[in-house]
Amino acid sequence: MRRQPELVRPRTRRRSCAPLLAVFSLLSCGTGPQDPVRADIPPAPPPAAPQIALEPPADPAAVARGQALIDRFECVRCHDLPGREPAPLEKHCVRCHQDILAGRFPAPPGTLREWQGHITHLTDVPALHGLDRFRRAWLAGWLHTPHDLRPGLDSTMPRLALGTAEAADLAAALIPAAEAAAPAAGDLARGRELFGDKSCALCHRFTGAPNIAPAARLPVPLDEAQLQRGLAQAPDLRFTRERMRPAALVAWLLDPPRHKPGTPMPKIPLDEADARALAAYVTEVPLEPPPAPKHVQRLPLLERRVTWAEVEAKVFKRTCWHCHSDPDYARGDGGPGNSGGYGFTPRRLDLASYTGIASGSVGDDGKRRSVFAPLADGTPRIVAHMLARHAEVEGAAPELRGMPLGLTPVPLADIQLVDTWIAQGRPQ
Ligand code: HEC
Ligand code: HEC
Ligand code: HEC
Ligand code: HEC
Repeated sequence: MRRQPELVRPRTRRRSCAPLLAVFSLLSCGTGPQDPVRADIPPAPPPAAPQIALEPPADPAAVARGQALIDRFECVRCHDLPGREPAPLEKHCVRCHQDILAGRFPAPPGTLREWQGHITHLTDVPALHGLDRFRRAWLAGWLHTPHDLRPGLDSTMPRLALGTAEAADLAAALIPAAEAAAPAAGDLARGRELFGDKSCALCHRFTGAPNIAPAARLPVPLDEAQLQRGLAQAPDLRFTRERMRPAALVAWLLDPPRHKPGTPMPKIPLDEADARALAAYVTEVPLEPPPAPKHVQRLPLLERRVTWAEVEAKVFKRTCWHCHSDPDYARGDGGPGNSGGYGFTPRRLDLASYTGIASGSVGDDGKRRSVFAPLADGTPRIVAHMLARHAEVEGAAPELRGMPLGLTPVPLADIQLVDTWIAQGRPQ
């Protein structure tokens, strides 16, 4: 996903006053020019990392609730999770696509080739190992209102039907451990140099930070497949200062695979001071604010006639029906948007046929309702859901859940086709 919402809380670097105060309780620990110069004060220790309360171990009751929610929300349909069985192949949105792309899926070669040409989404997701490198509080907020972290992945974490308490319980289950004490601060200027020398920007975007070109060669050999996975999964480092625990960040930079076996980030030779310098650069270099979110424009209706065949090919059969299909054809499961899944109640919305879409969906009151009915501003509901996906990618959390759920938005010109088709009375 390309656009990044603003989630960065600027954290100014403070000199740590607490230790000094304990010794010289009467002295101010400011460093401004108005401070009296006192020959008897020892030189200040190197500045410590910013003072943020360390996270304690998670509440065991919350951990237990969160474990049950991992089952309810079917996280294993997309992610590997330590200690849990992956979902069976016919339910696993990522593994099945990977098997097809790798040619492992049992299907005739011609069919496989055709499928391979169509599949772009949900082909790679981060495994959920070693999550205790993240802040529990960050994870709770992000699970509730996810935004894109990895510019190289087409799919994002879906916005699930969970409240803030459930998000906090999930975060407790995924990050039960207490946070380790922050290491001493590193040398930011040295970190800036290393960032170029060690080719960090080969894989990472760092939105808002100064542009630092990677060195011509990576400091470690990587084959093409490793490089491609690295490019796909490297997070935008803009968010790292929000999400990573400072001690874990330094430990991660020294040896990523030790913290997360199988991670696509290679181990790049660094000593401890280098790692602290890079951590200082990543978390403290001032960032430009992101561009203001664009207002999502509903295009005017077309003059020409639009047929079902056209909207079916361009929109519904391209993306939607993979989650909204007819349960009869898909061994009883019509996908998360029809039969339910990932914790969603069954909406019984079939977008695979003209009659299916005409029979609408099941609302919260259990009654069938039209997906064409206009909302208060006149936008047909199904069109509003597709526009909402654009708003989500722009960084908003609209009331309507964006469709297609967690995937690339439908181009505005294709939404316009559906809009026009509905306005023309949905010709067949
Ligand atoms: C439909 C597939 C899908 C499901 C189901 C899903 N996720 Fe995700 N998740 C993703 C994708 C895609 C990403 C990568 C997002 C990004 O990097 O922007 C992701 C990222 C994450 C991350 C960030 C990990 C990291 O290293 O950055 C966490 C944590 C996570 N998911 C937890 C969960 C939990 C907990 C559940 C169940 C409640 C869940 N996911 C269900 C697709 C899914
Ligand atoms: C049993 C294997 C299998 C499983 C499980 C599976 N898919 Fe697919 N998926 C496919 C195949 C095959 C295609 C290509 C179909 C075609 O070419 O018409 C596809 C295509 C897609 C597409 C359209 C292509 C694209 O990349 O945009 C989407 C979206 C999609 N799948 C989403 C999902 C989601 C979400 C899940 C989990 C709920 C899922 N799939 C589970 C086999 C699978
Ligand atoms: C070959 C590509 C590649 C290179 C080169 C690379 N990284 Fe990474 N990095 C990744 C990937 C992929 C991840 C995500 C790993 C995962 O989630 O399993 C990652 C994760 C990280 C994270 C965690 C960020 C977060 O928010 O979760 C930091 C910090 C980081 N890298 C910094 C660096 C620095 C600094 C350098 C240069 C010394 C560097 N990386 C070089 C691929 C790379
Ligand atoms: C990755 C799976 C997935 C894909 C792909 C997907 N949907 Fe959905 N859709 C869902 C789920 C799950 C729900 C239920 C959400 C809820 O209950 O809030 C849903 C709900 C809806 C609803 C609201 C139904 C109601 O009554 O609340 C509409 C309309 C909709 N989808 C349209 C679409 C369209 C149009 C597309 C293609 C552009 C699409 N969906 C693609 C999973 C998906």
